[in-house]
Amino acid sequence: GKSGYDHYMLKEINEQPLALRQCLRERVSELERTITVDELADLERRGPVQFVACGTSYHAALYGARLLREQGIPAQCFLASEYDARSIPITDETLVVGVTQSGETADTMSALRGANQAGATTLALTNVVGSSAARECNYVMYIRAGPEIGVAATKTFVSQQAALAMLSGVLSETHSSELIRRLRRLPDQLQQVLDESAVREIASTYVDADAYFFIGRGYNAPVALEGALKMKEITYKHAEGFAAGELKHGPLALVTEETPVFALITGPNAAKTLGNVKEVEARGAPVIAVTDQPELVEQYATHVLEVPAAGRRLTPILANVQLQLLSYWVANELGRSIDKPRNLAKSVTVE
Ligand code: M6R
Repeated sequence: GKSGYDHYMLKEINEQPLALRQCLRERVSELERTITVDELADLERRGPVQFVACGTSYHAALYGARLLREQGIPAQCFLASEYDARSIPITDETLVVGVTQSGETADTMSALRGANQAGATTLALTNVVGSSAARECNYVMYIRAGPEIGVAATKTFVSQQAALAMLSGVLSETHSSELIRRLRRLPDQLQQVLDESAVREIASTYVDADAYFFIGRGYNAPVALEGALKMKEITYKHAEGFAAGELKHGPLALVTEETPVFALITGPNAAKTLGNVKEVEARGAPVIAVTDQPELVEQYATHVLEVPAAGRRLTPILANVQLQLLSYWVANELGRSIDKPRNLAKSVTVE
């Protein structure tokens, strides 16, 4: 059941510290300074990595690919529905990673089949034991989020992000002890975000907006896309997510006093994103900053939503939780069918 929550989505948002702990359990050892994923014990990486995924899982893949590249591993992301294994370079050194919570998404399955036929090594990153993706691939890594009932992906996204952070450790020669230490602290820090209530007030302040914008750069860029997808999916409102720097290349024309802009401003490139915030502010748009540096942004933001600092790679995971709650509370205030949004299914089994 919903354990006293009005919706599975809110229950699952609140289960995220637990989901993270399960995902990390016996994989990340601070004592030994190692990341070990038993399922991948004999996976030898040699060549480039290609991610295939859809929707929220695609956003996790964008985040993961960036982590891999930072570790020196060439990594590319494809929307599974756009992936054509016959038209891109694939060798037996290529590792194709299907990121799919359900393990049943038709587009992702067909991309993985194509990759297998082309001779790639395939890996499924999934939540469901024995799912089609788990059976199709040479390797499988489980994200261990526990069952997710709400159509909106929440805890599975966070678990995918953590699993991808571990995968970046497994695939690279050097283990970052900083990443290990920060991963271990993450569940408690996520709990701190859940204990804050400021976002509910923001949701009700902006519940009548016609459109919502989300911006972020670096590891926050996929989080901006995810924030917008979640908003569309459960509130039926127009929402757009952009890499912060892209705003001035077109979308800025849409910004008015009526478009609240949610700006993800965390980590070392905060100052740069702040430059983009000034651009939207000049158009009179309300700016809601999600940040680990409140003193830096205060002067420019209409509202500030704080998150604990978890380093440049992991703080975006926490910032995303504020956006999940934002969408939830907007949808709740609008009386939407949050767990089963119109036109959508939990797993999309047609191409
Ligand atoms: O099961 P999958 O991770 O393969 O699902 C992919 C998408 O259909 C899914 O993430 C979808 O975008 C979510 N409902 C968004 O909340």
